[in-house]
Amino acid sequence: MAIDRIVTTTIDEDDAEEQRIEVTLRPQNFNEYIGQERLKKNLKLAIDAAKKRSEPIDHVLLYGPPGLGKTTMATVIANEMGVGLRVTSGPAIERAGDLASILTNLSDGDILFIDEIHRLGRAVEEVLYSAMEDYKLDIVIGKGPAARSVRLDLPKFTVIGATTRTGSLAAPLRDRFGHLYRLEFYTTDEIAQIITRAAKILNAPIKPESAKLLSSRARLTPRIANRLLKRVRDYADVNGDGIIDTLMTTKALELMEIDELGLDPADRHMLMSMIENYGSEPVGLNTIAALTGDEPTTIEDFYEPYLLQIGFIERTPRGRKATPKAHKHVGRSSRLNDT
Ligand code: ADE
Repeated sequence: MAIDRIVTTTIDEDDAEEQRIEVTLRPQNFNEYIGQERLKKNLKLAIDAAKKRSEPIDHVLLYGPPGLGKTTMATVIANEMGVGLRVTSGPAIERAGDLASILTNLSDGDILFIDEIHRLGRAVEEVLYSAMEDYKLDIVIGKGPAARSVRLDLPKFTVIGATTRTGSLAAPLRDRFGHLYRLEFYTTDEIAQIITRAAKILNAPIKPESAKLLSSRARLTPRIANRLLKRVRDYADVNGDGIIDTLMTTKALELMEIDELGLDPADRHMLMSMIENYGSEPVGLNTIAALTGDEPTTIEDFYEPYLLQIGFIERTPRGRKATPKAHKHVGRSSRLNDT
């Protein structure tokens, strides 16, 4: 689902320009990939070992909030292994037959990237289990009494699965992955480096202090950082001489109504609604969704990870709580609301 917010972590599937730029900016190898140091260290080792043995690497599950570089990492792994990459997603593989045709078209060593792998249907998931386990595909040919089952050999391939939550993944599927890694939020320093690199590729002159300022507003997320950079570049092209300096950056951020922590009007509205209606008491996810008019999964996947990360929301067994920090930020003291 595309959300019409600048700080959204989804890519707008209808926006060809956005997709093109995302691909242009995408790092191609470990040297270009900034951040996720622990993940890179582990993957480099796995790749070196696999290459030495001339085997594919074990299946990899990447999880964490959207926009942190799961697809990018899959591209990097394929490049570093020197193998082909086939990209698909859970919702796109509707029937077991769809998966069968993808699998039989892979070559030895290829990587199959399945985004939103938690959204695979049950029947498809079961075909995937045996394919991942022993590179065999069990298919039924024909119908009724004439139906018979055949086992096809598949090329030795690697699945890289991506999901926002491991909790939604069936345990048998999760167990088929040899590597499970969580992508972490980036530091503001890393985000500033990513912005500087992207600006260079886009030929957009940016002052170091502006890269720093933008990095503090990007919710620790490269996808948002790159999107903000493009908006500020537009602003500087129209209202200045194209150079992204402090004035242009500040003005553009004001126009986008993105505050000093990277929150946009939708985040502030959500926090305000929680605080006005529930003070410091926990609120259920469905109630929050009703307050903002979003789907509960949108709250969980898009609003919440960053708000949890900066300590504005706490998860409790009875729901989500706005913390005193959040109260302070939206301009209300929690004491007032507690009475
Ligand atoms: N662009 C988006 N994510 C990036 C990353 N992790 N490193 C470098 N450039 C990026």
